[in-house]
Parts: sequence; structure tokens; C-alpha cells
Amino acid sequence: MTDTVLLVGGGGREHAIARAIVDEAGSAPALYACADNRNPGIDRLADGYDTFDTTDPAEVTTYAAEVGAEVAVVGPEAPLEAGIVDALEDEGVFAFGPRADDARIETDKAFQRSFMAEHGIPGCPDFATFDDPEAACAYIDDYDGDLAVKPTGLTGGKGVRVIGDQVTAEEAKDFIQESAYDSFVLEERLVGEEFTIQAFVADGDVRVTPAVQDHKRAYEGDEGPNTGGMGSYSAPQLELPFMEEQEYHDAVAIIQATIEALPEYRGILYGQFMLTAEGVKVVEYNARFGDPEAMNTLPVMNTPLMDVIEAAKDGDRLPQLSFSPRATVCKYAVPKGYPASPTAGTKLPVDDAALDDDSLFFASVDKRDDGIYTTTSRSFAVVGVADSIAAAEREAEQALEAVGTEGLDVRHDIGTADLIETRIEHMASLRGESAAEPDRS
Ligand code: AMP
Ligand code: GLY
Repeated sequence: MTDTVLLVGGGGREHAIARAIVDEAGSAPALYACADNRNPGIDRLADGYDTFDTTDPAEVTTYAAEVGAEVAVVGPEAPLEAGIVDALEDEGVFAFGPRADDARIETDKAFQRSFMAEHGIPGCPDFATFDDPEAACAYIDDYDGDLAVKPTGLTGGKGVRVIGDQVTAEEAKDFIQESAYDSFVLEERLVGEEFTIQAFVADGDVRVTPAVQDHKRAYEGDEGPNTGGMGSYSAPQLELPFMEEQEYHDAVAIIQATIEALPEYRGILYGQFMLTAEGVKVVEYNARFGDPEAMNTLPVMNTPLMDVIEAAKDGDRLPQLSFSPRATVCKYAVPKGYPASPTAGTKLPVDDAALDDDSLFFASVDKRDDGIYTTTSRSFAVVGVADSIAAAEREAEQALEAVGTEGLDVRHDIGTADLIETRIEHMASLRGESAAEPDRS
């Protein structure tokens, strides 16, 4: 049994992880947290909380030693890239997250694609990598079709430019020439509907969770710039309304093939997939839970999170996971102007009672003596859990109303029947079916 856990990270995802660790009746370990910001939700749940630069391995290992942590759970990607897991393990702390080398599946998109190609992992789009902006631009000129332009390193979900969707070829070339990034992956534009599957992984075991659909674009109707994710939904079953159950299993098979080729990988492997007319393709991998997707998945997971982590720590087979057959809808409230010119320093309209509200997850806010304030990133999320997506959506809206969203932006369309219907129709039209008149032949 683990007595003391250190949680690294202070976003909505980590608030969900903190709840899942602390919620165990009777047997919950002591929880300590560290992050760059003071998340009031985690602060409320934790036995101790420190703020410092969590990409500094020495800071994290010093704090882990100070609190006597036996296990660490690393939420965000930046500490993984910085080798926090390697540093903790060198100090004898079991870390649930991949070492920096394995985290390259997320942190180095050129590695991610060449790894997939080398190991013959299905679902890899046509791609090429460039260290020279001129050569990347020439490739765009010569390529027959649309491309997605991706800086190789981490960009907080905001670095990709998709030609024919968000930008023209000329704008993509300007982006390559003018951006501060110096290395790029250019790949075939995938057309379809995106979904996420997050898997727990240890010692080659893979345990998957229900599919979730995130909404990256900042504004309603999928307009505006890409963000870290504005909200997400999941269904009572494993697959989403626009997918066949088999397509969920096709995506799981890709995750399994990936882990067979990465036998040392430990932690969460997050697959971002595009369901296309030609089947399931990989948009990217992340080496951690999704934010917001963790807030869809952990509240409906019946298997205690600590049971999975304990099994990984002890070298046991991971338990089979059980989920409530419930739908979830998550909506983020973000500072006005997010992501281009967010207004930091807005006081949130929440009182202390909000800290005990299970449907509310705090994110990149800052708790000060006189209240909770926005930073330049996402502020808080609400999650509705119900028997249908429509009912979960209504719950999420009620929760937003109860908290108040003055001075904040929300995508109210996430999880609505209208938006789900457009997803179903989009897939039907790509597959050459008519959604209104299903082919019964
Ligand atoms: P990433 O930073 O890799 O998560 O990409 C951000 C978003 O860009 C994805 O969620 C997709 O919406 C889009 N994207 C990335 N790669 C492609 C691609 N090959 N085709 C179409 N869209 C893509
Ligand atoms: N939901 C996207 C991410 O966590 O990167």
C-alpha cells in the first residue's frame, strides 16, 4: 500500500486526478501536490501544496523527499519532457508516467511519425520532416493535396496549421518562415471526426477507457484558433455516436501495436485519432491524460485509480477497468480573449462552497488571499454526468449557471444535440451515406 502520493501539475486534469486519488473511502493515501500555479480545488484536497517550476527535476525531487512521497503521478507533458520521471525514479520514487525517452511519442512529433513508420504501426498518415524552412515550403508547393504543418516540439496544442481548413498554403508557408520553430513535420491532411482514447499502460499491459471527443477550436461552430481544448463529451458506451463499435476497437489495436513497440512505456498513452472514410488514423499521441478528457473519464471510472497505480508499482497485471455506463459533457470557461489575447487577473465569481462541488474542476487559476483569479490559460471546467449526452449537457449548463461565467468565455455548443448531429452527418457524408436515409440494402 502506498501512504503518500505526489501529484505534479495544477490544471483541470490534475484536479480530476486528485479527486480520483482522494475519493477512495477509507484507504486514500496522503496527497501532496506541486504546480506552477495554486489550483484551489487541488489545494482543498491535498495535505500539502507547493508552487515552483515543475520542469525543474531538482525542485520536484526535493519536494518529493520532503513530503516522503512513495509514488508520483505526473499530469502535464512539460515535466515529462524535462525528465521528471527519470529524476524521481533515480531517487527511488515510483512515478506513474513515461521516462523522457518514451515521452518523445508526444514531445517529438518527428520521432512519433518515424517510430510509427519504422514499426509498421497502422494508421500513420503520409509525412515528411524538415529542419530547413525553405525545404518545407518547397514541399508544400510540390505536394498534391492538403497538408498539416506541425512544429516538431511541444506547443500546448496551439502549433498545428492545417491547410485547407484553418489556413491557405501561403499562410502556412508564412507561418513556417516567421515562427520561432525551426523543425516541422508536414503530413497528409486527415479529414473526418476526431476522437481520443486514453490507455493505462505498464509492463506491456494496456487498459483502455471510453472514447472522448474534444473541441480544439476556440469559438462555437468550430471556428477560431486552436486551443488546449474547450470541452469534450463521452457516451454511455465505449464508442461515440458518429462511430461504429468496431472503429473503437480498431483504434485500440493501434494503441496495442504501439505499446508492443514501446515495451518499457509506463503511464497513460493518449491516442488522438481521426475517423476517416478510409478508417481510423493517428493524429498524434500524448504521453499523459488529456485535458479536458481526464475530466470525462475519471468521474465514470469505477475501478479505483490507485488500484491501477499500485498494480503498476508492484509489477502486477493491471486490473480490468470498469466504467459506469454514463455519458459526460465537459465545458471549459476561459478568460475573455483566450487563446490569442487572454485577460488575466479577472476575479472568478466563486465562493468556498464551489470547492466542494463535484461537477466543478479548477484549472489554471491562481488562488490569492482575497479570491480566485484568472491567468492567461483555461480557468475552470464543469462536467455533467448522466444517462445520455443530452442530459449530461443540460447538467453541465446548470453547473455553469450556478458558478457564473461573468468575464469568461464558454463554448455552449459542446455536447448539444445539434452539434452531435453535425458530427454524425459529417461522417455519413464522408462515407457516402445519407444520414437521413440510411442504406438498408
Ligand atoms: P496536435 O497538436 O498534434 O494535437 O494537433 C492539433 C490539432 O490539429 C488536432 O487535434 C487536429 O485537429 C489537427 N491536426 C493535426 N494533425 C492533423 C492532420 N494530419 N490532418 C488534419 N488535422 C490535423
Ligand atoms: N485535449 C488535448 C490535450 O490534452 O492535449
